[in-house]
Amino acid sequence: MIHFIPASLRLHSFNRQLARMAVEYLEGQAEVHFLSFEDLPYMNQDLEYPVPEAVARVRNEVLDADLIWIFTQEYNYSYPGLLKNLLDWLSRPANQTDRKSQSVLAEKKAAISGAAGASAAGKARAKLRELLELVGVEVLPEETGVVLGKEAFMTDVLTLTPEEEAALRTEAEAVLITLEK
Ligand SMILES: Cc1cc2nc3c(=O)[nH]c(=O)nc-3n(C[C@H](O)[C@H](O)[C@H](O)COP(=O)(O)O)c2cc1C
Repeated sequence: MIHFIPASLRLHSFNRQLARMAVEYLEGQAEVHFLSFEDLPYMNQDLEYPVPEAVARVRNEVLDADLIWIFTQEYNYSYPGLLKNLLDWLSRPANQTDRKSQSVLAEKKAAISGAAGASAAGKARAKLRELLELVGVEVLPEETGVVLGKEAFMTDVLTLTPEEEAALRTEAEAVLITLEK
């Protein structure tokens, strides 16, 4: 089971569109679930125990995942705060009665893709990789970066160049190979 995590709340989000394309590239060879985490509170250590219901739900969903695939936009050369908030909650001990227990991210596998302006979310993807590795996630080397041009911003429709399509296909294949291991 792969959990897709689009980091944007925008209705016509390009990263959501990219995630839907990735589903097609998996060609029905893996079960995909879209994680919804809009209802997470902001991280606040006063709220950690007892674990808020939304946090417990999201942690359980991620625990179930064989791999998480994150699709991130770039905000000011980084990934968005919404995603950081999710990862901060996920990085804390999973077991409410054992504060030294592992997080649900420990030893989890992840793939990263991103659509943004001229940078193709390159800085956001690099910083996200650094954070994920820091919290014990194994991140696949294959990544997809998509540059959003003027036409995309005018139409709100994502189209990929042949190179971007090839990168997404390669990444989807790498994800499937990882799941088989
Ligand atoms: C606050 C803010 C900061 C942004 N900073 C960057 C940036 O540093 N680099 C970039 O390529 N695009 C930047 N953008 C543009 C977004 O990445 C772009 O609009 C993207 O489409 C958003 O993804 P979404 O369509 O999935 O919501 C920024 C947008 C906002 C709202």
